[in-house]
Amino acid sequence: MSDDDRAHWDAKYVDRVAPDADAIGVDAVFAVHRDAFPDEGQAIDVACGQGAGAIWLARRGLQVHGFDISAVAIEQARALAERSGVGGRCRFDVADLDDGLPGGPPADVIYSARFRDRRLYRPMMDRLAPGGLLALCALSQVGGTAGRFRAAPGELRAAFSGLEVIAAGEGQGLAWLLARRRGDEVPSAG
Ligand SMILES: C[S@@+](CC[C@H](N)C(=O)[O-])C[C@H]1O[C@@H](n2cnc3c(N)ncnc32)[C@H](O)[C@@H]1O
Repeated sequence: MSDDDRAHWDAKYVDRVAPDADAIGVDAVFAVHRDAFPDEGQAIDVACGQGAGAIWLARRGLQVHGFDISAVAIEQARALAERSGVGGRCRFDVADLDDGLPGGPPADVIYSARFRDRRLYRPMMDRLAPGGLLALCALSQVGGTAGRFRAAPGELRAAFSGLEVIAAGEGQGLAWLLARRRGDEVPSAG
């Protein structure tokens, strides 16, 4: 990512009000499926922003590692995790996902809200522990505008066809997928 893009995201977060710690929830598209998420294990939040998703997972009982390009957002996420009483279950680091998914142990949950990078689809699948849950939502061309940052029609289902789909949807400019890696199978990339 260029320095300009990094500065762009930092500038967006500098004046952004932190989410209310008492009102933190999973992204709205996953809300009706919240019971599908485990309450223990390891999770990663890819492009975590201010950390709301990570903190929601940590409150369930998971150990969560969040990454984002914005140092401003990462500081806000750390502070919010402390205020939310889950600082001990959260770790947040600045990382440029253009360089790939940072390494780590197999994940019981991979969560990524409102971010898309097709190059990460395969590394995300490889990182899922057997039985692990993938929760992705990204801007979509379906019901939205065209653009290189938006998922093409059917993109998420095709990319993660090796996983067992729990729920998926696309429309109104958003695509989302909740899917699980089966037992000990090695998932195939679509
Ligand atoms: C629309 S925000 C979503 C943030 C958060 N997941 C949420 O749901 O509130 C997209 C996030 O992607 C991050 N991002 C964009 N490009 C990135 C990159 N190359 N590496 C890491 N993070 C990136 C931005 O800093 C921003 O926090």
